[in-house]
Amino acid sequence: MCGIVAYIGEKQAYPILIKGLQRLEYRGYDSAGVALLNGSVKVFKKKGKVSELVYHASQQDTTGTIGIGHTRWATHGKPDDINAHPHTSGNGRLTLIHNGIIENYNAIKESLLNRGHEFRSQTDTEVLVHLIEEIQSQNNIPLEEAVRLALNQVIGAYAIVVMDANDPDKLVAARKSSPLVIGIGKGEFVIASDASPLVDYTKQVVYLNDNEIAVVHRNGELQIKTTNNELQDHKVQEINLQIEQLEKGDYEHFMLKEIYEQSKTIGDCMRGRLNASEGWVRVGGIEDSIEHFTNAKRIIIAACGTSWHAGLIAEYLFEELARIPVEVEYASELRYRNPIIKENDIVIALSQSGETADTLAALELAKDKGAMIYGIVNVVGSSIARVTDAGSYIHAGPEIGVASTKAFTSQVTLLAMMAITLGYRRGTIPKSYYHQLLEGLESIPAKVEKLLKLNDKIKYIASEIKDSSNALYLGRGYNFPIALEGALKLKEISYIHAEGYPAAEMKHGPIALIDEDMPVVVIATNKSSYEKIYSNIQEVKARKGVVIAIVPEGSTEISKIADYTIEIPDTEEPLTPLLSVIPLQLLSYHIALMRGCNVDQPRNLAKSVTVE
Ligand code: M6R
Repeated sequence: MCGIVAYIGEKQAYPILIKGLQRLEYRGYDSAGVALLNGSVKVFKKKGKVSELVYHASQQDTTGTIGIGHTRWATHGKPDDINAHPHTSGNGRLTLIHNGIIENYNAIKESLLNRGHEFRSQTDTEVLVHLIEEIQSQNNIPLEEAVRLALNQVIGAYAIVVMDANDPDKLVAARKSSPLVIGIGKGEFVIASDASPLVDYTKQVVYLNDNEIAVVHRNGELQIKTTNNELQDHKVQEINLQIEQLEKGDYEHFMLKEIYEQSKTIGDCMRGRLNASEGWVRVGGIEDSIEHFTNAKRIIIAACGTSWHAGLIAEYLFEELARIPVEVEYASELRYRNPIIKENDIVIALSQSGETADTLAALELAKDKGAMIYGIVNVVGSSIARVTDAGSYIHAGPEIGVASTKAFTSQVTLLAMMAITLGYRRGTIPKSYYHQLLEGLESIPAKVEKLLKLNDKIKYIASEIKDSSNALYLGRGYNFPIALEGALKLKEISYIHAEGYPAAEMKHGPIALIDEDMPVVVIATNKSSYEKIYSNIQEVKARKGVVIAIVPEGSTEISKIADYTIEIPDTEEPLTPLLSVIPLQLLSYHIALMRGCNVDQPRNLAKSVTVE
């Protein structure tokens, strides 16, 4: 949440900061701002999107070769011009951008107020910049030392960059529990919340660790110390990120691009890991800890949102195929109860961003309890990837639409490969079924491609139900999590209230809601429960509900009674979620678009939830 970017070098900073903020806008879009230093400091900030800021600053002097920028997801203080970052110290000397939450800001603010400080905003961030200023001016010390002393008084999460008007040749950055990456260019540095603002200038990066403070100098020098004042060695890494991956190309929205990319991204996830004709599947991270996995007494999966839904599918996969007991936990709940986690448990953190604060905290708790921790993430070099004992990347490429689509199918693909591997190694699936599953998985990308051709039909269904106020999603077995995911996709981008339910649970409550205004999306792709779900559809129709059924190709019974049907290509039952989710993503996309919603940046949301 919140995106930060900073530049120092020979180029003009403003265009670099604006382009960086546009790339980071998925992290928050309540307000945006920049500060530029060119003799004196100029701050431009505006409520709303980066485009509002650009308009606001268009007639102003935006020159300067050093500057900082921020795009905000509001926590403390409403989204307005004053609460927008950067924030400036009382004497006007320091400007600061911040991603995270200073939890003890009230206590610090109180004592600063007692010492005569005056605050303009309601933010925790302004408190921090005042604190740094006070320490700097009282002790007459370099900025980095003032930052270090201030951070030792702070409780909470932060990624910050500070600029000093009296020292135009350096920037100071620090992190704890919020990501920060330093791009090292030729005679320049770009610092940002993720690598997307850097790729135009460099591929050489340093990921800052928790409790580290970096000083970047105009002369190309980079120095990193801990908040305990210990000098740190830093490892320069090369990022593998292409500019085209960060752009919409010919698509109207990132979400649509990412939905269409899935035939490729599912294939990318399997590349080098599975070969059906040769009969093998190998997931590197598991192979390295195979003893641990094959002997595991229990797997706990911690995740949030869409990743939690992928985790729920993994429960069905691991239990059925590998006969390993699985518990799927909301990371936010797991971290705050007193869970029983033992040394021979494996705790898997599932996260697209690899930065979700609750998932990270749950993982740290599991680590403290001695469990093996395994990360499944998309963003290379993210915090979860760096704290886990072992793990796997899903290789979906940058996902920019706030609603997760391609990351979900890649997560499920990876989890399916893991379950098949473990089932085979533990002898819990027959050899013939093992080969059938490998072939099934390998053929998914082509089937996704085929499904995407149904876009026009799905668009038509969307036009028929777009004015609904509520929607119900029902599924069974492997497709119960898809009902949850379909409902989440619809509510987060179209603002229609939607609920996902196990189909048989409908009779225990939600059936009371059904009338002719209620669309009911039924995922009826499990052959093993086809008759049962057929009965559930009859129950909905008897109450005049509008049924949109996702059915296996050639299904005639359900097609006769449903109002609309979408057929998915035939596949093994455990793999059906990889196909049944695609029409639901498209349905939400079209409904949201028809309702005039901002599909890529839905209200109140941010892509990467780095605060509690
Ligand atoms: O980056 P993560 O996978 O950890 O994110 C978890 C959720 O915040 C995320 O899936 C969220 O629910 C999406 N907006 C869903 O589309």
